Amino acid sequence: MSVHTKSPLTACRSRGLAGNIRVPGDKSISHRALILGALSVGETTITGLLEGDDVLATADALKALGASIERGDDGTWHVHGTGVGGFQDPRAPLDFGNAGTGVRLMMGVLASQPVTARLTGDASLSGRPMGRVLAPLQRMGAQWQSDGETADRLPGIMKGAEAPVPITYTLPVASAQVKTAILLAGLNTPGITSVIEPKPTRDHTERMLKGFGADIRSQTLERGAVQISVKGHVELSPRAVQVPADPSSAAFAIVAALITPDSELTLCDVMLNPTRDGLVRTLIDMGADINSVNRRDAGGEEIADLVVRSSKLRGVDVPPERAPSMIDEYPVLAVAAACAAGTTRMRGLAELRVKESDRLAAVATGLAAAGVAHRIEGDDLIVDGGTVPGGATVATHMDHRIAMAFLTLGLAAESPITVDDATMIATSFPDFETLLRNAGAQISADPEARS
Ligand code: S3P
Repeated sequence: MSVHTKSPLTACRSRGLAGNIRVPGDKSISHRALILGALSVGETTITGLLEGDDVLATADALKALGASIERGDDGTWHVHGTGVGGFQDPRAPLDFGNAGTGVRLMMGVLASQPVTARLTGDASLSGRPMGRVLAPLQRMGAQWQSDGETADRLPGIMKGAEAPVPITYTLPVASAQVKTAILLAGLNTPGITSVIEPKPTRDHTERMLKGFGADIRSQTLERGAVQISVKGHVELSPRAVQVPADPSSAAFAIVAALITPDSELTLCDVMLNPTRDGLVRTLIDMGADINSVNRRDAGGEEIADLVVRSSKLRGVDVPPERAPSMIDEYPVLAVAAACAAGTTRMRGLAELRVKESDRLAAVATGLAAAGVAHRIEGDDLIVDGGTVPGGATVATHMDHRIAMAFLTLGLAAESPITVDDATMIATSFPDFETLLRNAGAQISADPEARS
């Protein structure tokens, strides 16, 4: 594990954010596009790929397993796959850095082919539970040997099944990563592999597998549950993937524009998949002035430009059913709630405890440092909004979204907010600082900016 040097960043009260911003490509779609390209025979091209550390780690892992992946001078990525089940043993450990999505999806890919690989990650990733993915994959025949802190942690050695067996698995937690890992393992498993999801989670895998020619079906069961089934040993056909802008990255710029006076920002090409749009729906409930224009289809996903203007927000009650459609957006929703009049109650946030950090604790500690009244009751976060004093340094715990959320809060706080370490922002949104600064946000690495 490499030594990590912290790099602080400070955000100061700003006004008048303006312009057109195109945030980078969606992280979930970028991982999946590389993986499905690597499992196809022939050339897949990807435009708009998120060139963040998380996604680049997945690309490196796929190369080490035998796929050829190159970036052209025009920014288009070219993937020549090995076909389903065509990977070879990597010569060195596969290092997934900070990326839970990367490692969990790749565990699925490896689980059903006769490949042995050592999987590693940074300190944050090595503290995250892998058992939720390993349990179903072990039932399919994969073997896992950990030398991490506990048996379900990285680092460890994954040995894919020689003769994988199909399963039907009901998700115990609403997790698109777990669903995807099983479906990817199903691609090289004879027969039909099924996942039953009691609550809907992001469906990019299903959409993209269809696009690559997989035999995949979804069937609605009782009480809104959905069974997704994939047939194994069907060859995938390469295709051209256009990656839309990531709504989870756009979220920071959207909230920045809402809470900063005299702002009007346009966020271009933002994906509005209904399994991902919970934050925009919630902000509109809070009174946000957000208009979606130019709605269109981009490679199987609906996208639009979002015009966002400064707004007087009011507190709302966010139901637990909405959590999967905005699971990565709660830190920045808490920021919007801190600037809103009245109380916002965000219900059912247990999953936040196992993200890149314990996000529930990290958000609460950050709000406390910034002088925002809040409490945690069970799995709910309650924020009493109003004026934000700021004047604090917030610990980011190797979590990109904690860093970006509290920098966003600093734009509206009375005194500046510093995050102790902004390096992890590069995992998902490498040009965050530049894009927001160009729009007029006062964000700087210079400690003098605090005076
Ligand atoms: C992701 C699913 C979510 C999300 C993560 C990306 C994906 O995780 O938090 O950033 O691409 O499938 P869970 O599946 O653990 O909810």
